[in-house]
Amino acid sequence: MPQGLVSIRSEDCGVCHQAHYAEWKTSTHAHAWTDMQFQAELKKESSPFLCINCHIPLENQQEFLVEGLYDGDIYQPVRKKNPRFDASMQAEGIGCASCHVRDGAIIGTIGSDKAPHKVKKDPKFLNETLCMSCHNANAVVTPELVCTFQTGDEWAASSFHGQKNCISCHMDTLQRPLVFGMPVRTSHLHSFSGSGIPKVKGLVVKSLNGMAFYPSKIKEKIEVTDSIHYQLTLKNEFAGHRLPTGDPERFYLIKLEIMDQSSGKTVFTKTDRIGETWEWYPTAKKIADNNMNPGESRTFQLNYKPKTKGKYVIKSLVTKHRMDAKTAAYNGLTDEYPLFINAFEEELAVEVY
Ligand code: HEC
Ligand code: HEC
Ligand code: HEC
Ligand code: HEC
Ligand code: HEC
Repeated sequence: MPQGLVSIRSEDCGVCHQAHYAEWKTSTHAHAWTDMQFQAELKKESSPFLCINCHIPLENQQEFLVEGLYDGDIYQPVRKKNPRFDASMQAEGIGCASCHVRDGAIIGTIGSDKAPHKVKKDPKFLNETLCMSCHNANAVVTPELVCTFQTGDEWAASSFHGQKNCISCHMDTLQRPLVFGMPVRTSHLHSFSGSGIPKVKGLVVKSLNGMAFYPSKIKEKIEVTDSIHYQLTLKNEFAGHRLPTGDPERFYLIKLEIMDQSSGKTVFTKTDRIGETWEWYPTAKKIADNNMNPGESRTFQLNYKPKTKGKYVIKSLVTKHRMDAKTAAYNGLTDEYPLFINAFEEELAVEVY
């Protein structure tokens, strides 16, 4: 407990740091424990006790302390009741103290002498290595269970390395007081925006956009002997890692369609996918991976020869997904769990004469 405080619950930090708290509340970090998908996975027999260590990293958040393993088996931990267990802190997931409390002090980058709590200035601790301690894991736990988040390695290999890092991209700077009535300082947004796919239906989250979209110009009038041409280029322009990154279940769908306006029928449709494909049984194996590297572009084309004269509409839609509907159903997730958001949408009219 840092000197000057009586609680390290995020809710209590939020009494003074109201803006930081309100932003963090909308973040995925604040949902790392209550997340329906996480809870569903945790209940599976294949999930060992150590799953919780990045999702509720503090000792007070864990109901049991693990003192060893029977027969060295990760599925048979030796557990002891934790007398300091705090259920409301557990529900907070990755809270303020996960990143800011170490050895009885609040770690900061300013070195304020105005804080009512003990402060230790340690910018080396509060840098991207903190993020990477959870966002870069490569472990084969059992043959069917692998942990694969290489966001840190992907960033280190990108041209952003040395220019921008996890914090400069995911925690925008702004000028404001850190506590009401205090002097204005350079501060950082704490909503940790990423894909922008909310964890709970109705939760308003800010989305970062890593992909830039370049749709082609089209000919608005063509002869019936001609063809409709359209193309959409996606470029991973703004993300300092591959897209998608992290969880291997994420993907993008790029759907190009042509609708005949007189009949209302779709006369052409084509869907492409960007993401990884895994086989989980009998052993976890990556089968395909066409994630886009930082700076990489990819073009999706539509060519269609209309059979009749009339009015047509080109529809292009790019969606980004947390997981597919099959995986969601398998985990018993309901409509309350948003699976995707639209990232790009366009409709263009073509007249064929
Ligand atoms: C009673 C009010 C209060 C509470 C509760 C409180 N803080 Fe603070 N905190 C402050 C004030 C005041 C400052 C100094 C602001 C300034 O210098 O502009 C500060 C400064 C900070 C800083 C910046 C330190 C630096 O020098 O870089 C961090 C980080 C911080 N608090 C985190 C926390 C966390 C995490 C909690 C909960 C565990 C917490 N605070 C609880 C009032 C509070
Ligand atoms: C204690 C482990 C831990 C640390 C430290 C950590 N994260 Fe996370 N982060 C997570 C977990 C776990 C999730 C996902 C929670 C879930 O989906 O249930 C997550 C989610 C995110 C997301 C949201 C992804 C999305 O689209 O929903 C972003 C962005 C992110 N973290 C960035 C950061 C940054 C930047 C830092 C460093 C300042 C950081 N994280 C530090 C564990 C951590
Ligand atoms: C150059 C800026 C930049 C850097 C550096 C960067 N990110 Fe991102 N990151 C983004 C953007 C933009 C997105 C949103 C991608 C989208 O969904 O369009 C994103 C998305 C994410 C996501 C959500 C997953 C997804 O596919 O949308 C996570 C998690 C994440 N970043 C973590 C990190 C971590 C950890 C680091 C440091 C190792 C980091 N990022 C470095 C810009 C950056
Ligand atoms: C995932 C890690 C993480 C979590 C969770 C987190 N912070 Fe921070 N926080 C940071 C980092 C990193 C910085 C410093 C950024 C810098 O100076 O480069 C920071 C900076 C701060 C500062 C200094 C002023 C500023 O805005 O830069 C305050 C105050 C603060 N955090 C309070 C909080 C409070 C309150 C919570 C919980 C509601 C919280 N933080 C949760 C990582 C985190
Ligand atoms: C090394 C730290 C770490 C460990 C250990 C860990 N996770 Fe995570 N987990 C993360 C991070 C980081 C994310 C966010 C990744 C992202 O959004 O790209 C995450 C996200 C998730 C998500 C949300 C995925 C989504 O679609 O949004 C689930 C579910 C999950 N983890 C389950 C588990 C299970 C089950 C285990 C144990 C087998 C586990 N985690 C162990 C770091 C960890």
